[in-house]
Amino acid sequence: MRAATKVAVAPAAPTRILGYFTLVGIKIIDAELPADLAKRFKVRNLAAGAPAVLLAQLGVDRGTGNAGLGTFLLRHALHHALRGAVEIGGVALIVDAVNADVAAWYAKRVPDFRSLAADGLRLILPMTTLAAALQ
Ligand SMILES: CC(C)(COP(=O)(O)OP(=O)(O)OC[C@H]1O[C@@H](n2cnc3c(N)ncnc32)[C@H](O)[C@@H]1OP(=O)(O)O)[C@@H](O)C(=O)NCCC(=O)NCCS
Repeated sequence: MRAATKVAVAPAAPTRILGYFTLVGIKIIDAELPADLAKRFKVRNLAAGAPAVLLAQLGVDRGTGNAGLGTFLLRHALHHALRGAVEIGGVALIVDAVNADVAAWYAKRVPDFRSLAADGLRLILPMTTLAAALQ
């Protein structure tokens, strides 16, 4: 499987990466999902689980911190994830936050994220919710 990474650069210095994000198609299994989502995400002809888009990485150069680039890249990642789901299928966006502070960073920007894991670090957003939010 191939991941897709997008980078942000300034036109004046195109070889310096200021930020990036990576999206990859994954399968989430029913056991990972709350019962309501497992039922809602049921895909005909898939024995178990459902296709999803994982936002695997998102980061900015320390020199650009708190300048809004992370939020800008997240918005881009959300649009790309939705487009990918429309083209090849995907019922939800998943984010694996590296720690609780970063999970809170995501939740502040996308309040509809729900925690999937007990530690609160795996977040899920149904694609229908994302599509409505981006309209
Ligand atoms: C998380 C990250 C992408 C934020 O990017 P950024 O460009 O600094 O963020 P923005 O400028 O859009 O937002 C600034 C806000 O985020 C907060 N913030 C910045 N980095 C944060 C972090 N690591 N954890 C929690 N909050 C953070 C700032 O305090 C600020 O808060 P405010 O809105 O209340 O003032 C960046 O810190 C980063 O690359 N971290 C290292 C990699 C990482 O942890 N990526 C997440 C992988 S799941």
